[in-house]
Amino acid sequence: MDFRRNILITGGAGFIGSHVVRLFVNKYPDYHIICLDKLTYAGNLANLKDIEDVPNYTFIKADICDYETIQSLMQQYNIDGIIHLAAESHVDRSIKDPFTFARTNVMGTLSLLQAAKLYWESQPERYDGKLFYHISTDEVYGALELSHPEGIEPPFTTTASSGEHHLAYGTDFFYETTKYNPHSPYSASKASSDHFVRAFHDTYGMPTIVTNCSNNYGPYQFPEKLIPLFINNIRRRKPLPVYGKGENVRDWLYVVDHARAIDIIFHKGEPAETYNIGGFNEWKNIDLIKVMIKTVDRLLGNPEGYSDELVTYVTDRAGHDLRYAIDSTKLKNELGWEPSLQFEEGIEKTVRWYLDNQEWLDNIISGDYERYYDDMYKNR
Ligand code: NAD
Ligand code: TYD
Repeated sequence: MDFRRNILITGGAGFIGSHVVRLFVNKYPDYHIICLDKLTYAGNLANLKDIEDVPNYTFIKADICDYETIQSLMQQYNIDGIIHLAAESHVDRSIKDPFTFARTNVMGTLSLLQAAKLYWESQPERYDGKLFYHISTDEVYGALELSHPEGIEPPFTTTASSGEHHLAYGTDFFYETTKYNPHSPYSASKASSDHFVRAFHDTYGMPTIVTNCSNNYGPYQFPEKLIPLFINNIRRRKPLPVYGKGENVRDWLYVVDHARAIDIIFHKGEPAETYNIGGFNEWKNIDLIKVMIKTVDRLLGNPEGYSDELVTYVTDRAGHDLRYAIDSTKLKNELGWEPSLQFEEGIEKTVRWYLDNQEWLDNIISGDYERYYDDMYKNR
């Protein structure tokens, strides 16, 4: 079958990638979606079970660092667009093993860029109609302060550059123009990969886009990240390890809204541009944890306050960034994207999903991962 476009999505068996693959496969039956994933501990084909037999979907198990394989896939599938999500993505793991992060996030991105360059430059139309879209994080910008206007308790109402009002824990935000200042090995590796992507545009003229998104939550997230980890631990009556005092602030976005943004930007974004993606939805960790406990207890039929005793304050994460807060006004003004879900609705949907899909969770946490987690937790 002849497809209108052939799009390579890397990291498609991971959390965000699986939502992007699902959206593209269902929405664009005339595109061939080639999902490439190494299936590391974080990759899981169960995340894509519902689309595995759809005719415009192909899965390939491969490592983005395997340059020869990527080169031959570019040719074999005549790839004209790349949406690059494959990465090592967990800050705590990057603190223990930074080499794996440099290898996949930096060298893997470079291998994809170089393979795309050679293939696209070998074609008569060269870069026309091509796009290398790199998915990055707000963590590359570093950390913001907690601050508030005099006499006002945070969270306070602030006005974004779009003119809309939001609750915030500080007067400053990450903009597309904010200088990179990564602190963790994870964010340093993502920052480095972002620089390589922009260098390929500036040096070779490759059409590239970089987007920097805030913390995602929703179905299919690996249960080492805060939200699924805590839902799972509440369900199993295990301790809820709160790093430090639980004062750190994150800006949370429902993953399907991120996938929608990626779709819009892939089709309408300007090459060479950067877009910030965020929910204007800042939460102090401890407040978010309280909402989760309340929601899980209610949905499990437990009395209110039943799981409060599971909260356990543990040693803080080394170099723990205090606050992330994205200003996504450029994306709203230029491409019309806005989050579709209010946080209360998103968290309810998310908790329900994990409770309704306990088999998905149990398959992940059985065996190696459970041992890894218990070991790490003992050392906190
Ligand atoms: P994830 O860890 O759930 O998934 C990563 C996927 O990449 C997995 O399927 C894994 O198997 C695959 N992968 C890892 N190394 C690979 C390699 N060498 N070759 C091929 N595949 C490999 O991550 P996620 O949370 O879905 O994040 C996806 C992307 O979005 C990452 O680039 C991350 O930096 C970025 N991001 C994530 C968030 C978030 O909150 N999760 C926020 C902003 C940006
Ligand atoms: P995480 O989901 O790891 O995302 P990121 O570090 O990329 O923001 O963590 C979100 C926040 O929750 C972060 O401030 C660290 C904190 N946290 C805990 O307090 N306990 C935990 O067990 C985890 C995994 C995270």
